[in-house]
Order: sequence, then C-alpha cells, then structure tokens
Amino acid sequence: MHYTITLLPGDGIGPEIIAEARKVLEVVTRHSGHSITFQEGLIGGIAIDERGNPLPDETLEMCRRSDAVLLAAVGGPRWSDPRAEVRPEQGLLKIRKELGLFANLRPVRVIPALISSSPLRPEVVEGVDLVIVRELTGGLYFGQPQGREQTPEGRGAVDTLRYNEREIERLMRVAFNLARGRRRKLTSVDKANVLATSRLWREVAHEVASDYPDVAYEDVLVDACAMYLIRRPADFDVIATENMFGDILSDEASMLTGSLGMLPSASLGENRPALFEPIHGSAPDIAGKGIANPLATILSAAMLLRLGLGLDREADIVERAAEAVLAAGHRTADLAAPGQPTVSTRAMGDLVVEACEKEFANA
Ligand code: IPM
Ligand code: MG
Repeated sequence: MHYTITLLPGDGIGPEIIAEARKVLEVVTRHSGHSITFQEGLIGGIAIDERGNPLPDETLEMCRRSDAVLLAAVGGPRWSDPRAEVRPEQGLLKIRKELGLFANLRPVRVIPALISSSPLRPEVVEGVDLVIVRELTGGLYFGQPQGREQTPEGRGAVDTLRYNEREIERLMRVAFNLARGRRRKLTSVDKANVLATSRLWREVAHEVASDYPDVAYEDVLVDACAMYLIRRPADFDVIATENMFGDILSDEASMLTGSLGMLPSASLGENRPALFEPIHGSAPDIAGKGIANPLATILSAAMLLRLGLGLDREADIVERAAEAVLAAGHRTADLAAPGQPTVSTRAMGDLVVEACEKEFANA
C-alpha cells in the first residue's frame, strides 16, 4: 500500500522530535513493503510568523488529503503574550475542530524499565495500564461566548461550558468499545454534584452503558479521580471524560510513567485523517539542544500505524522496539537518574530504528 502522511512539526522541540518519528515510520513501512509520501505543513507559532495564521488553509487542505497526520507541538514564549489576538494554540484547537477529532485517546502504560523514573513508589505504579478518552471538540475549549467583558466591578471575562447529548454519546461509545477490547472497565469522570453539563453527561453515559452490560461501569467525580490516580492508578482501565477534565487528568496521569516525554495520543473522528501527537508541549527551554525525548512522538507514530493506517503488526514492532531500547538502559535526559549517562534526541531515534530492524529480522 501507499500512504500519504502529513507531518506538522510546529514549534520548539517539534522539528527535532518529528524527524526521529519520521525515520521510524520510514523503516517499518519499508520493511513491510509499504511506502509513504510525507508532506510537511505549518502550524502554531511558526505559522503565525510565516503566514500570520496559526493554521493556514493550505495546512488544513494538506491534512484533509492525507491518510493520517502526525503533529509534534505548538507554542512558545515568543507568542504567549496573554493579550495577543492570535496564539499558536488556536491552530491546534482549530485543526481538532475542523477535522472533527472528537475522541482523544491517551494511553498511560508503565514500562517496567522506567518504574523507578516515576515520582511515585514502584508498588503504586506497577501494572498501570489505562487509557484516558478525552472529549476534544466541545466544552470550555469551544463554548461561546468566550472573551473579555466590562462589568460594574471592572474587567471581566467569560468562558462557556456547554455539551449536548450527541457529543456525549459518541464519546462514550468510543470509550465503551475500547473497554471491550481491554479489561472491560469504564470510569466516567464528571462533576455532577456541581455542574449541569456533568449531570447531562452522567445521564447520557448511563443510557449508553445499558448497551454494554459486559463492561463494568462507574461514575467518579473529577476531584476524587485526581486523588485515585495517585492512590490506586492500577485499578483504572478506561477513563472517559470531558475536554478540560481530560486535559488536566492526563498530565497528572503522565507522571505515573515517569515522564511527560513518554505519552502518545490519538485524536479520532468519524472519518480519516486521524491526528496523532505527543501529549507534551513544545519545551522551548530545551529546543534546538538535541536533548528532547522523541519517544512520545515515536509512540504516537506507532498509534498512527495502528489506528490511522490499520498496520497493527508494524505498530507492535515500534512499541516493542521502544521498550527494548529502554530495557537496554538508554535514557534521554528527562528519564535519566542523577548521574546516569544520557543519549541525544537523534541517538534515541537511531536506537529505536535499529531495534525495529532487529524485530523484523527475528520475525
Ligand atoms: C493538550 C494541550 C493543549 C490542550 C493546549 C496546548 C492547547 O495541553 O493537548 O493537552 O489544552 O488541549
Ligand atoms: Mg494538556
């Protein structure tokens, strides 16, 4: 098969880490007789600089014409003035909305070789294997009105939290179907003791749950969930939640694995293309130094192979290769214990490529 993949390097460490993921994609597809045409688009701060627009139409068109999209990260201090009208993050929100990517899957699996990198005790994080299914095109991120207003008390601002049953139902179905292929446990997270949108969320979630009697279902309030993620993270299987709660809980959950630099994600809609991106940001403080961890992007590329192109075997190979490299003791700076030697971004990419080739040789 021949595939077209759009790469969106974005800002900060984006170009460095996406180059490593591209190498990995090239190697695994070549080995299994597929070919890929890569095209690169502008998004985020660099798109503001070059086109005055964080998501130029040409980028969106390029994405629509491709089989899958791999995005690195957007944003940086150059564009983070809170009074700026145009911000890099708007490009990210717009691409999610325009491509209809309503379901964001964020798997959090503790890799045995990294257990000691977690700030939590090994016995707490051992066996953690959960997926956060975050609603991605609704809620506070998109509700209108949003913006500044004048009030008798001076400057005011408003954000709007709004959900409808269609948005909730389709997200819950993705989460239930995913749970069916896993340990058949689903935790729906809301704040139904305070928010009207959460009470609707819970109502619709229960209706959908009745179609999945084989999946154990529970409701958990978001504040309690934040606590349980630290106290007993291994109990979770699939966690389904609205946009903002999912944003916050997924950063929290990333610490179970030891580094934000390890977590991939997939954003899915009803149609192709889906979009794949690491959950970390553009890390402007280390951009250009060649020390960023490319593994979250490489693991996002693995998700792209599996969920974007249907290449399950190739996805497994990339994931096993990344684990093998870690098991052999190689660490980027974010993962290394004090005093432990580190490898560069590029060296980590090369090690994964090598490990993929070994996997193919043994297959
Ligand atoms: C994420 C990020 C984004 C979000 C930011 C960069 C807008 O934090 O993907 O989790 O809040 O969705
Ligand atoms: Mg986030």
